[in-house]
Amino acid sequence: MAPLDVDSLTRVGPGTPTGEFFREFWIPAAISTEVTPDGNPLRLMLLGEKLIAFRDTSGRVGVMDHRCAHRCASLFFGRNENNGIRCAYHGWKYDVTGACVDMPNVLPEHAFPKRIKLNSYAVRERNGVIWVYMGTRKEPPPLPNIAIVADGFENLVVDMVMREANWLQSYEGDIDPSHLGFLHHGNHRPSDVKDDFIGQWLTTDPRVRTKVVDTDWGTMEGHVRPYGSSPNYWHYSQYLFPFWSMPGQDRMDVEYPIVRAWVPMDDTHSMCVQFMLPSGLTAGGQPKFFDKALSRLPGVAKRAREFLLPNTTDWFGRWRVSPAAENDYFINRDVQREASFSGIEGIQIQDKAIVESMGPIVDRTHEHLTVADLMVVRTRRRLLAAVLAREENGSLPAVLDRPELNLPAYAGGIEGSGEHEDWLSLYAGKVQELGRPAPRLKAETVAD
Ligand code: FES
Ligand SMILES: [Fe+2]
Repeated sequence: MAPLDVDSLTRVGPGTPTGEFFREFWIPAAISTEVTPDGNPLRLMLLGEKLIAFRDTSGRVGVMDHRCAHRCASLFFGRNENNGIRCAYHGWKYDVTGACVDMPNVLPEHAFPKRIKLNSYAVRERNGVIWVYMGTRKEPPPLPNIAIVADGFENLVVDMVMREANWLQSYEGDIDPSHLGFLHHGNHRPSDVKDDFIGQWLTTDPRVRTKVVDTDWGTMEGHVRPYGSSPNYWHYSQYLFPFWSMPGQDRMDVEYPIVRAWVPMDDTHSMCVQFMLPSGLTAGGQPKFFDKALSRLPGVAKRAREFLLPNTTDWFGRWRVSPAAENDYFINRDVQREASFSGIEGIQIQDKAIVESMGPIVDRTHEHLTVADLMVVRTRRRLLAAVLAREENGSLPAVLDRPELNLPAYAGGIEGSGEHEDWLSLYAGKVQELGRPAPRLKAETVAD
């Protein structure tokens, strides 16, 4: 077999090494309210497969190949009625498992519905989203357990925003510590954000001193800046198999971290699925981060959801925003010169513009990475090794079957006390203080 390279991580269709690896994990595919009992079928693009999702009369959700098994008409045009979806062409009907339950265009003695089953996928609902398992196992693995994305958290705020770019370059924005002080806050000064802790540390020194480590769940990054009385203010972020991130915002003990999945729709489109606790919102419905002085500065004030367009029924019509390549993301060059580094409004929109500007799948042979990109490099290697292990001997990361291994993963800032404080001990101490299990971290760990 040809050796896998980073480019192979960008190919997610059926039969590709990375695509098959991703299929072993549960995927948050849609918000639960996107399908209603006997409501309209939903076009769903996942890992390069065109699927149809619908909720039947009894409330169960089915996710399956969109093509009818008779003559391949799309079930998008089907009638969702009486516990099944009926093809609009000749009336074949399927239940939520994809089993054909009616073949009404022939006499009963000629019908063979029991022999017909569409390629369909296991579905669960939890955390306000529809989860889909597209893997090979008869009995799917447990759902993941990633901070608030876990059992018992049913009232999460879930935001989806589509990116017109490959999942990996979209993802890597979440583990790129040195862009914060430029793209998002390059023109902001500590004096602009007096008494705002998060603003102060983000605007003091944009040069990144970063460290990375492999973990049970993936990789962890920490970078340090001096802040106030603390010579070491460490900020931690996480990569979790296979496409999850915890970028962290505020101090670790102030705010529950947001959790994101970067779901590959196909090789050139990805869906950011962001989970947040409702207690992280202000009375006005804004995240608490948006209450801070920093968020009132040019470029920071708007959330992606404020730009959302109405969903359409297109394969790529869900959760789009109005700033897009064709309007240069509404860049304002005067604002760029004087106020916000990018001239683009909204942190997520800034990320989207930059990531899409790289092209649908970035050609990484043109990259020149620096020490600031340690986490990007480490994470590519970690994922590549995991994809390769599955190709070679079928083994998968232990966290797939033991979701509790994700529990020590957390994100945000910790104030250190000493000049040469060990960043891993500082982290382990804080997460235990927050009641989470101790992580197994060593300076150069390659977990499992
Ligand atoms: S194509 Fe669907 S019933 Fe004929
Ligand atoms: Fe960003």
